[in-house]
Amino acid sequence: MYNTTAFLYEATAAFEQPETTCEEIQAVFQQAGIQPPGQLGDLGSGTGLMSILFAQKGWQVYGVELSPAMMAIANHKKQALPVEIQARLHWEPGNIQSFALPEGMRLDAAICLCNTINHLTEWHQVEAFIQSVHQALRPGGLLVLDSDRLETFQGYFNHPPTVVWEDETRRVTRACAFEESTGRARHRAMVEQATPAGWQQLSEEDMALQYHPEVRLKEAFAAAGFQLENAAPFNPFPSLYRDLIPKVLWSFRRL
Ligand SMILES: C[S@@+](CC[C@H](N)C(=O)[O-])C[C@H]1O[C@@H](n2cnc3c(N)ncnc32)[C@H](O)[C@@H]1O
Repeated sequence: MYNTTAFLYEATAAFEQPETTCEEIQAVFQQAGIQPPGQLGDLGSGTGLMSILFAQKGWQVYGVELSPAMMAIANHKKQALPVEIQARLHWEPGNIQSFALPEGMRLDAAICLCNTINHLTEWHQVEAFIQSVHQALRPGGLLVLDSDRLETFQGYFNHPPTVVWEDETRRVTRACAFEESTGRARHRAMVEQATPAGWQQLSEEDMALQYHPEVRLKEAFAAAGFQLENAAPFNPFPSLYRDLIPKVLWSFRRL
C-alpha cells in the first residue's frame, strides 16, 4: 500500500484543494477553542501534505506514518521549506493503532485525514486507533478525522481497470471492487513503464479500504471517552464528487 504508487498520491488521491481543506479544519479547531501554537498529531501523515500546511499555520506537527515511501516524499519536500517551518515538522515511522509519543509530549489536537481511518480494515484496528489517540491527546484535546460514506464506496470504489495517470514514461491503471456484504473495497494499481516495445509492467500494488458505519464510529469514540463535537458533510473533492457528499468530517473531544 502506497509504496510504488506513493509518487502519485498527491496527483490522484490527495485533497483537491489542500489549502482550503486546511482552512476548514483550522476553523473547526478554532470553534472548539483550540489554536496554534500547540502540538498537533498528523495520524497517517502520508506525504506531509497537511502536516506542512498546519506547520505553516504555526502548529508543531508530529506525524505517524506506516509507508516509508510516503514518508520519504514528505522528508524530501521538507528540505525545500524555510528553516522555521522545517523546525515544526517531525514524522515518525509507526502504526496509528499503537503509536507512542516521545517522552513528555502530549497532543493538543490531532488530524487523521483523507480516509486514513478507512485503511484500518478490521474493527479491532479502529478500536486500537481510538485508544491510542485517547492516550496521546491531552484532556480537552480535539481529534478531527474524515471517513468515507457508504455511497462513496458503492459509486466510486467500484470500477473496472481505468488509467488514472499517465505521462510519457509511466502510466498507472487502477481497478476497484466493492463487496456490499462486507463493506470492503479492494483496489489494485498497476504501474507501467513506456518502452520501445510498448507499455511494460513495473509493479502491482493492492490496497483494501473498509466502510465503517457512522453509528458504529460514533459509539466506539463515545465508549473510549470522547465527546462528539460535530459531524458534518464534507466534500474536499468538489470537481470529482458533484452528485454526492463523499465524506463525514468528525470532531471528537477527548474527555
Ligand atoms: C489516503 S492517505 C492520507 C494521507 C494524509 N493523511 C493526507 O491527508 O494527505 C492514507 C495514509 O495513511 C497511511 N496509513 C494507513 N494505515 C496506517 C497505519 N495503520 N498506521 C500509519 N499510517 C497508516 C498510508 O500509508 C497513507 O500514507
